Amino acid sequence: MIIFTFLFVLLNLISYNGSMGELELRKYLKVIKNEKYYHDWFELVKPILLSDEFQKRIKFKHHHNSVFYHCILVSYRSYEFAIKHNVNPYNCAIAGLLHDFYPYAWQDSKSLKGLDSSYSKKIGVKKKFFEKHGFTHAREALENVYKYYPEYSNERIDNAILRHMFPLNIAVPKYKESWVITTQDKIVSVKELLGMY
Ligand SMILES: [Fe+2]
Ligand SMILES: [Fe+2]
Repeated sequence: MIIFTFLFVLLNLISYNGSMGELELRKYLKVIKNEKYYHDWFELVKPILLSDEFQKRIKFKHHHNSVFYHCILVSYRSYEFAIKHNVNPYNCAIAGLLHDFYPYAWQDSKSLKGLDSSYSKKIGVKKKFFEKHGFTHAREALENVYKYYPEYSNERIDNAILRHMFPLNIAVPKYKESWVITTQDKIVSVKELLGMY
């Protein structure tokens, strides 16, 4: 047991480069690791979850969780729903993970101190009503996906990200995947608010 613990710590140290390695990430995912589709889902989203830019969302607040955690839950629940209801699971896993990949934090939190200050530049800035986060972040997230993960962009994933804030954003979701993401986002958000995640 001592040897195993030593090896585990050593492996984490070797893989540590300022962000989580796979072993540490799997520990972080313990809330869903016993779920039926966890391993298949993880293989699909692993490259994004392990990337430095996505891991910065650990420091973006979302209710009492992080954007990182919120997006993992939306991604997994959307993937699970897609398998059960004959929707494309890959599109749902990726769109769920990236639906809130907006570039700048909008809620202040102590954790942001660990990030470059440019990530906080929109906090406290006064905006007109339709320029507020709820109305703009879906498009900002999609543009950020084009910047960091263009290889994951396709018509259906893009639409699911762009329209996930329906009905606050009045553009109606176009594909099944878009409806799955907007629905699961709301279910997960309500459960987060209720302290169920
Ligand atoms: Fe959102
Ligand atoms: Fe969301």
